[in-house]
Parts: sequence; structure tokens; C-alpha cells
Amino acid sequence: MKKPLIKYLKDYRPPAFLVDRVNLDIDLFDDHALVNATLEIRRNEDISDPSPSLFLDGRELELLSIDLDGTPLTSADYETKEEGILVKPGKKPCVLKLTTRIYPRENTSLEGLYMAGDTFLTQCEAEGFRRITYFPDRPDVMSRYTVRITADKTRYPVLLSNGDLVSTEDAGNGRHRVCFEDPFPKPCYLFALVAGDLACVEDRYVTQEGKTVSLKFFVDHGDEDKCAHAMESLKKSMRWDEETFGLCYDLSTYMIVATHAFNAGAMENKGLNIFNSKYVLARPETATDTDYQLIEGVIGHEYFHNWTGNRVTLNSWFQLSLKEGLTVFRDQEFSSDTGSRAIKRITDVRTLRAGQFPEDAGPMAHPIRPESYIEMNNFYTATVYNKGAEVIRMIHTLLGKDGFRKGMDLYFQRFDGKAVTTEDFVKSMEDAGGVDLSQFRLWYSQAGTPRIRVERQFDPKARAYTLVFEQTIPDTPGQTDKRPMRIPVTLSLLDGNGKALPLDSNPGHAEKTPVNREARETFRFENIAEEPVPSLFRGFSAPVNVDAGYSHEELMFLMAHDTDAFNRWDAAQVLVLSAMNGLIELRRMGKTPVMDQRLIDAFEKTLLDTEADKALIAQILTIPTETELGDRMESIDVEAIHEARDFFMESLAKALYVHFRNVFENNRESGPYTIDPASMARRKLKNTALSYLALVEYNRADFVFNEFTQAANMTDKLATLTFLADMEHELADRALD
Ligand code: BES
Ligand code: ZN
Repeated sequence: MKKPLIKYLKDYRPPAFLVDRVNLDIDLFDDHALVNATLEIRRNEDISDPSPSLFLDGRELELLSIDLDGTPLTSADYETKEEGILVKPGKKPCVLKLTTRIYPRENTSLEGLYMAGDTFLTQCEAEGFRRITYFPDRPDVMSRYTVRITADKTRYPVLLSNGDLVSTEDAGNGRHRVCFEDPFPKPCYLFALVAGDLACVEDRYVTQEGKTVSLKFFVDHGDEDKCAHAMESLKKSMRWDEETFGLCYDLSTYMIVATHAFNAGAMENKGLNIFNSKYVLARPETATDTDYQLIEGVIGHEYFHNWTGNRVTLNSWFQLSLKEGLTVFRDQEFSSDTGSRAIKRITDVRTLRAGQFPEDAGPMAHPIRPESYIEMNNFYTATVYNKGAEVIRMIHTLLGKDGFRKGMDLYFQRFDGKAVTTEDFVKSMEDAGGVDLSQFRLWYSQAGTPRIRVERQFDPKARAYTLVFEQTIPDTPGQTDKRPMRIPVTLSLLDGNGKALPLDSNPGHAEKTPVNREARETFRFENIAEEPVPSLFRGFSAPVNVDAGYSHEELMFLMAHDTDAFNRWDAAQVLVLSAMNGLIELRRMGKTPVMDQRLIDAFEKTLLDTEADKALIAQILTIPTETELGDRMESIDVEAIHEARDFFMESLAKALYVHFRNVFENNRESGPYTIDPASMARRKLKNTALSYLALVEYNRADFVFNEFTQAANMTDKLATLTFLADMEHELADRALD
């Protein structure tokens, strides 16, 4: 076996040669494609290497010809390496021409140019462009592209690449040719080509600058009527980025191709996104509320990359979080602004805890800016993406909304059209926001989820309240003895009625963000008359594990009264977890399980709460999955968790049956199906209530089956089907059939 080649961040060097222009002439045939590449090359002024060479990556390419400034090169003029060729272009700018033959139909790597059914398409991120032609396949080489595509007219009526369509012509022999020009320099990972027989759905958008952008979705014939939601989401995304960050779209066309055979979710190729069709196509008969929300989020995500990723890109793949962490943060904010912020936050934290926390605690733990990699495709991780987004969110918290916006403005002002690093981003934030982020930078290099222990003390005589935060960062592979990090703790102190006490000297300001710098840090609050219950890390202000030592009573108080929706939900999670642990303990001792009446009371309060957002109530009533429970336990007894969870839900269902029934009936579908946030919240609450009713209803299968038959949208259909599938009943089989 050949030894894997490890690449290190510390070895990064800027390229010795740059490619200003790329001309691609691509001929598509049934069993192969011919790629003619013309590269305009020049020395990189910033590099002082007396005799530099240019490495052109290439994989599974048949090199038919190569010439430099018009002179054919023989194999003696360049060095053939395992994964490419090495040429010596000399001092003056030059033109390198390459012809390669490739076999898209045989390409099953899902990188480069391949076939998805009868459609040609490309996926070049991270290192797929090297399967199309020899090229310095690294994101810090940015070029302007002109692309000509020639193919059979009837089989491939639609030919697409990045940028603007500048010409269409007949090419003889039943073939046609198009030419696209992309005026913006881009790294080759953003190159895209699509050729096939696709239907087009068109709309338009007028930017804040008054420019009309034509929006085009390319889908399979027959799917034209499933694009409306994605189209609306795209227009919303465009408006949102203008309003929130002052960022307008820069080309005259925005194209999205939807295909069933796309490996990832979606890809942000400049002006020509390629999507898995599940993130585009939707109709009430085929899509659930969750599908609609996912589509909006993914459309937004790829659109937002146009500025964070494409206009400003990465200098190497070690910087992946620069575009992915930041863009995930941006799509989260977009969804929060268009839907319910609290619910979005809860959902995102659930994802983080379920996917990233285990990663950070296991053998694969790595910092959001990794130090080394072998296969880049394995580095699209929850850490780079989701923890990366949390790190951006903390910067947002530290700088405030306006400071963050200033930082973004400065970032684009400095780096538009450049390939940069996370450090460049942090420096922009620091300079614009007027904050010192030197210690904060450790978040980029240290792996592991910090653990925070909180000690609380109230001194009634001095009317003083102190909070002591102690942080430890667990060892991770290759990293021990970590330094304490700067951690924003958004907090409130709640009085007996759940009202936030005024903090600082400003009585209107009831929320405070102290920051932890030391391993142990004390915060003292003066003028506190009675012992408060602290609401800590509000909105999950940092991706950490917290042990605040709350009593049962305090957790129930927070669950009922906290004005921070996230913390209300989180208090319920902790309560449920401790109840589960209690049940598991009873089981181990061979005792019969008993349900804690105080918990039933707490859930009853929640069910009867008419003030709170319905989606929040539904979230609180949703018992963590077995996996989520297991992730937070010392040891995992699969069977015990399963039994405890069932017992817990059944006990709640029996004790609060009437309330569940009322909630269910009061939130039934009435009127036409709509997918606004309020309707989605109502459906979510109704189906959550039904999930409990399905556990106790006399002759429950008939009841749920009846709901299943009457369900008029996919959300209700799938929910009722899921409850039925959990029953051993003949009606479940009928429904599944
Ligand atoms: N740039 C990625 C697509 C990608 C992923 C390319 C992996 C190469 C390897 C894109 O922006 C992305 O992150 N897509 C996500 C969805 C997104 C909403 C997080 C995906 O494909 O899952
Ligand atoms: Zn992305």
C-alpha cells in the first residue's frame, strides 16, 4: 500500500505562478470528452524563488498534447509525477495549452465531470478540477474563465457554465456550441458545467442597486411545478443579504440545477449552483414542513457563499471554516429572521450536540482550523461547519450587531477578489469592532468542548451575588494542557417572578455578557436584594458544556419562567435527563419505575401555557431521542434508555391525557394549507400532542389510522404514519402499504 501523503498547515506557501485567464473548450461525446485548456500564466511577484516550477495537478487524465507559447513540449520538457506534472515556465508571462481526454461515463468518483443519468455535471470542490484538466488545483489561484461547450443538440439541448452566456452557435453534425464568460476571478473549485435535457423555470429579481437579475432553475421535465418554494427562498435570500449586510448579487443570471444524482446537498459554483433535488423540489403532496425549511436554509446557504466563499475565498483548504462556518452562521441568521429565532436556535444546538460534541470528544477531534489532512473530502465535518458557525456567533456576541456589521464591511473592503485566511477575518473583526480578540483566537486552534463549572454565592448582608466560572478543556488527540479561552457568557439574574434584575448601573439593561479569560473567573453583582436564579449562557452563547449545579426546583422554575426561550427548553432537557437517570437506576435495582409527580406538574404547566410560541411548547414536549439521551450519560445502557423513555412518555400521556387531547383538537388543520411559521408551529404542536395520544388512546390504532387517512398534507401524513409504524397492528401495515 502506498503511504498516505499528509499535508500540513505550517507548510503553506503562496503559489509561485498565477493563472490570470483560463479558456476551456470542452467537446462532449457519448463515451468521452475532449478538454482543450489555454492557461495564461505569470510569475507571482510576491514570491522570490530564483527558479520556480509550476505543479499542475491531474488525475485520471489522458494527456494528448501540451505546448508552451506555441511550442509543443515532449515528455522530456516536463516531469511526470504521481498526481500531476511539473513544468518550468520561465520568467515571462506565458501561455500553456493542454489537451486531455476524459471519460465522464466511467467516472464514479463523484468528482470532476461525470454523468448523472443522462446529464453531464461537475463537482470540483474540493479537489475535483484536476480530473478535468491539468491545473494548479488550489484555491489561492484565481482566474477569469471563458468556457465553450460543444455537444449534441437533441440529447443535450441545455449547456451551462458559470457567468454570462455570450454566444450560441450551430457546430455542424447535429451539434451546437455555447460560450460562457465569468467576469469574476475564481478558484477552480467553483468551476461548473452542466449539459443535458432539462426544463427551465424562470423568474427575475431586482437588486437594491436597481439591476435586474434573471433567475433560472433547471430541473427534470415534469418537475417545473415543484420549484416555487425554492424560487421564493432564493429571492428572500437575495433581499436578506442586501438588508443585513449590504451585499448585492453581482452577475446578471443566477442559475440552479437540481439533480437526483448529486452526492452532497448542494454546491455554490459561481452563478451556477448544483443542488440535490431534495433541496429544491417541493409541493404539499410531497414535502413536509421540515423539507420546506431545509430548502429555504440550503438555498440561502449556497446563495450567501457568493460573497463568503466566492468573492472572498480561501487560500488553502485548512481555511475551510472561513467560508463554511461563516456561511452556516449566515444561513442560520437568515432562517432566524424569516421564521422563529428561538426554534431555529434550539434546532441548531440539538444538531451541534448530536453531531459535533461527540466528534469533539472522540478520536476524530480536531480544531475548526485543522493542522493537517490527508483526504480533504473527509474534512467537511460538523466541527468545521457547526462549531465554526458557533465561533462566528461568539464574535457576533462580543462585538454586538453593529460592530459585527462593521467587521464584515471591512473584511469585504480588504479582501474582495482575494484568497485569505480565518486570521484575516478575525483581524477585520478586531480592527472594526475595537475589541482585542487575541485570546479568543484559541477557538481556531484548540479542539475539544470546554466544560464550565459554575459556583454561585449570595451574601444577603452585603446584598452581593457572585458567580464563579471555572473552565477546563478536555485533552484531545495530539493536544493536551490547553490554555483557557475567552468565552462570552450572556446571562440574566431572575427574581422570584422570573423577571430579569437590572444589571450594571443601567437599570434598563438586564442582560450582560461578561467574558471568561482565566481558567477561574469571578463576577460580582451588587445591590441584589434576594437570591436570584441565574439564567446562564442565554441563547447558548458559547459551544460549551455547563454544570451550574441547579436544583430540581430551580430547573423547574427556569423551565416555566425563563424569558430566554432557549434556556426554558434547555432546563426541560436537563430535567428529563435526570428523570431518565433516576428511572434507569430504579431498573438496575430491580424496582418498579415511578414517575416524578413534580415533572408531570411542570409539563402540565407547559401544556397549558397559552402565552408561549406553539413551536417552543412542542420542542419542550419533545423528549430527547434515545441517542441524545445516551450522548449525555456516563455509560450507555441501550435497553434501559429505551424502556425509561417509553415509560416516561406513557406516564405523561396518561397523566395529562385530557390536555393533550385539547391541544390536539384546538390545533387541527382548518382552512387551506399554508406554510407560514405560525401554521408550521401549530402543526408541530398538534402532531407532538398526537405522539402522546398515540400511546394511550383506547383502540389507539383506529384513532391514528383515521387521522392518517384524513391527512391532507405530507407533514401530517408522515407524522401519523410514523406513530402507526411504531405500533404492532394490522392497521400499521395497511398504512405502510
Ligand atoms: N461547499 C459545500 C458543498 C460541498 C460539500 C462540496 C462537501 C464539497 C464537499 C456547500 O456549500 C455545503 O456546505 N453544502 C451542504 C449544505 C449546507 C446547507 C450546509 C451540503 O451539501 O450538505
Ligand atoms: Zn457551504
